[in-house]
This record gives sequence, structure tokens and C-alpha cells, in this order.
Amino acid sequence: MVAQATEPLLRVWGLCKHFPIHSNGFFKKQIGVVKAADDICFDLQPGETLGLVGESGSGKTTTGRAILRAIEPTRGEALFTLDGKTVDLATLPADELRPLRTRMQMIFQDPFSSLNPRMTVGDIVGEPLVIHRLAKGQELKDRVAAMLKKVGLKPEHQPRYPHAFSGGQRQRIGIARALIMHPAFVVADEAVSALDVSVQAQVINLLQDLQGEMGLAYLFIAHDLSVVKHICDRIAVMYAGKIVELAPTAQLFAEPKHPYTRALLASVPNPDPDVRMNYSLQGEVADPGNLPPGCAFHPRCAECFAPCKEKVPPLETLADGRTVACHLHGGTQRPVTPR
Ligand SMILES: Nc1ncnc2c1ncn2[C@@H]1O[C@H](COP(=O)(O)OP(=O)(O)O)[C@@H](O)[C@H]1O
Ligand SMILES: [Mg+2]
Repeated sequence: MVAQATEPLLRVWGLCKHFPIHSNGFFKKQIGVVKAADDICFDLQPGETLGLVGESGSGKTTTGRAILRAIEPTRGEALFTLDGKTVDLATLPADELRPLRTRMQMIFQDPFSSLNPRMTVGDIVGEPLVIHRLAKGQELKDRVAAMLKKVGLKPEHQPRYPHAFSGGQRQRIGIARALIMHPAFVVADEAVSALDVSVQAQVINLLQDLQGEMGLAYLFIAHDLSVVKHICDRIAVMYAGKIVELAPTAQLFAEPKHPYTRALLASVPNPDPDVRMNYSLQGEVADPGNLPPGCAFHPRCAECFAPCKEKVPPLETLADGRTVACHLHGGTQRPVTPR
């Protein structure tokens, strides 16, 4: 299929990842389903950064992994347009997906556990080129050295092992590995959350510099809104597997519409992404395996009224262009049109 020139780099449409829950015992009957990511819709332009925020367990990692086909989506589309050609990542056969893997990458949260401790920095950064048979010998060495320089490390760091580096330096190694094949799309999953605040700023600046230089688009996953504020063009807020609001960053901060977005903005995040932050939020985050009826956020919402307990609010586009899924705000139908 030939794409239009205006085609986004990525168009995610109705993407779902539902994990079945099985009973114990011999027959392992399916007794329920965890709707970890449910009907996710958004566009991402080339070179754009879209933030994906929400409390721990809201489905951010699942969404990122389902788009990259690190896990099989249950249904939906992830249309990826590159060099004028559009493919659906969600259904592409494995042999056609393999060459595309060089163009989409993931940067992980934990620079301590995501790097193989028994491999040298040179081997870690160069491995993707070796796996995809894109370089060997002196060319491989040169490309690794150039990439290390790009992320602020030294070529002479190549023979060392990850344990010899600080957290910020290890994250630079992870970034070098993710970017060495010049991807067009990078999912950065809590990529700076484990770092000290001062180091966070350095790594964010580095990600932005590399974006300008290499024309990357980021899906920038974070539980901390203050981090995404400085790097994202637009922000999608997730709750219990669904996007509940999506708006340009300045608009979201100036005038958050969804009560959940407002509560997130008012909360003080914990630096650990696995610790729930609910200082200003009443109650526990909804269990995507046992969702309340109506709006999943209604039991915690200060502005809940009758329809919220009965009907799931659709994600709608408001007059100002943002999208929000909340009965307090009316609008037209869905945010993006399907193919
Ligand atoms: N392999 C799995 N099997 C069953 N449930 C899962 C699996 N992976 C994630 N989940 C559940 O899906 C929900 C979303 O998880 P996740 O995407 O990791 O959220 P986040 O990244 O926002 O913290 C959670 O309730 C989590 O327990
Ligand atoms: Mg996560």
C-alpha cells in the first residue's frame, strides 16, 4: 500500500492487549481477562514526542510493547509508514517484521538490569548491527565508536563492562544500543525514572539532541508528569488500560479536562515508578482484570455523577482539538478516523 505524504509515522487504532486469567487446577479454564491496553488510538508524526503517562499498572508498558510487537496485540492496528510504505505492525508476518525491527527500538527503565553484565560496552552497543548483519570488522568498530561519542561516552570505553559505569552512563549505553541502527521510532519506557534528578536532565537533553540530529519520533512513557512536560509535544494520559485524555503539552498543563489528569497534576510523584502515587487521589488504581462498570475512574472521581456509573465514556474530540473520555465533557465522535 502506498501512503499519502501526510501520513503519520505511526497510527495506532483500536489496539488492545487482553491477558486471559486462568483458573488453577487441571483444566485451567479461562475465568476472566485483564484489559491491560484497551482500544488505544493515537497518531505520531515523524520527529514528534508523545508522552504516555499514568499511575503504575495503567497499561503504558503493555501499550508500548504491543505496538512494537514485543507482545502479540489481541486486536487493533498499528500502521507504521516508512519510506512511503505503510504496514500494520500488529498483523505483519514475522519474516516481514524482522527487517523493520532495525527502525523501531525500545529504551528501558532500568539501566542496571537491561544491560548484559557479561558483555563489554562495545559488544552491547554493536550487537544489533551484528544480529542484523549490517556491519562487521573495522566498520563495526568505527560505528560503535561514533555512536558512543554521540551519547557522550568515549570510544575507549568499549572494552569495559557495564558495572564500571554510573546509572546515567549506563543509560547512555542503552541509548547508544537503541539508536545505532538509526530507528525512526523509539519507545522510551521510564527511561529516566531510575536516575537522579540532575542526571535525568542530562539524559533528557541527550534524547532531545539525538532526536533533532536523527529525526526520531518518541513514545515517551513516564509516570512523572514533570519529566514529560519538558520533552513532549503532546501527552496521552492513561487510566486502567485506556487513554482518557490526549492534548498538546501546554494545553494539558494549563487546562486539564479529565478529573484524572487534574489529580495526576496535583500529585507528588514518587521517583520509583513501581510505587503507587496517590497523594491527591482517593483509593486504589482500578484493577484492569476487574473493572468497575461505567467509567473505570468513577469510584475515585470527585466529580462523578449518575452516567459515570453506568456508561463507559467514549474518547471524544472537543472543540479545541484535544480528546477526552469523560461524561463531563461532550464532543464529537472518535479522535482519529480509521482507514
Ligand atoms: N503478562 C501479563 N499477564 C497478566 N497481566 C499482565 C501482564 N503484563 C501486565 N499485566 C497487567 O496489565 C496491567 C498493566 O500493566 P503495565 O502495562 O505494566 O502498566 P504500567 O506500565 O502502566 O505500569 C497491570 O494490571 C498488570 O498487572
Ligand atoms: Mg511500565
